[in-house]
Amino acid sequence: MLDLIVKTALAYLLGNLMGGQLIGLLRGGIDLRTVGSGNVGATNALRTQGKGFALGVLLIDIAKGVLAVLAIPHLPTLGDVLLTAREQAYWCGVAVAIGHCYPVLYGFRGGKGVATLAGVFGALMSAALVWMLALFVLVILVSGYVSLATLGAALTAIIWVALVHPEGLFSASGGFVLAMAALVAWKHRENIVRLAQGNEHRFEKARIIGR
Ligand code: G3P
Repeated sequence: MLDLIVKTALAYLLGNLMGGQLIGLLRGGIDLRTVGSGNVGATNALRTQGKGFALGVLLIDIAKGVLAVLAIPHLPTLGDVLLTAREQAYWCGVAVAIGHCYPVLYGFRGGKGVATLAGVFGALMSAALVWMLALFVLVILVSGYVSLATLGAALTAIIWVALVHPEGLFSASGGFVLAMAALVAWKHRENIVRLAQGNEHRFEKARIIGR
């Protein structure tokens, strides 16, 4: 038990290192939480700071998701190990996402966990991520709404585990994917209201494809 507590705590703290805040610091103290949508992720960085800033945020946030699930479960063990490495990786994936969304280092005001979860899914369920990304890109190209694309990707992950994953939804994999989809939906609750009201932030197609 001690082993799991220490590893999930490490993953949570890693999640606290948000790309938006780190790059913002390097750029003279920009705080994404005070501009645009107020989100500290790559979408708001692109919207308010431009491509270079957004790419940096995206890479850092993806990298910590990958690191949390591929490296932390394999650190030296402490005491009894109750779970398999795969199950530990799920717990670390949940912890790094929560660390990003509710970082103690930033007064629990974090991001929405999307890029971090892309890293987690890329490392743990890469086949699911392919479908999630395909739907994500399609929805953005058709609608211009990153939030809608993200919610669609979360739903795709649930459908993928239910229909394709050998363990199905009633398993550790299913619990993980349902918990992460719930976190994403909760963090996007304001986006959902804006989408319903028709005033969600929207990217023009020319901006998305870089013209
Ligand atoms: O990356 C989060 C995205 O789904 C929505 O971000 O800034 O439009 O609230 P934002």
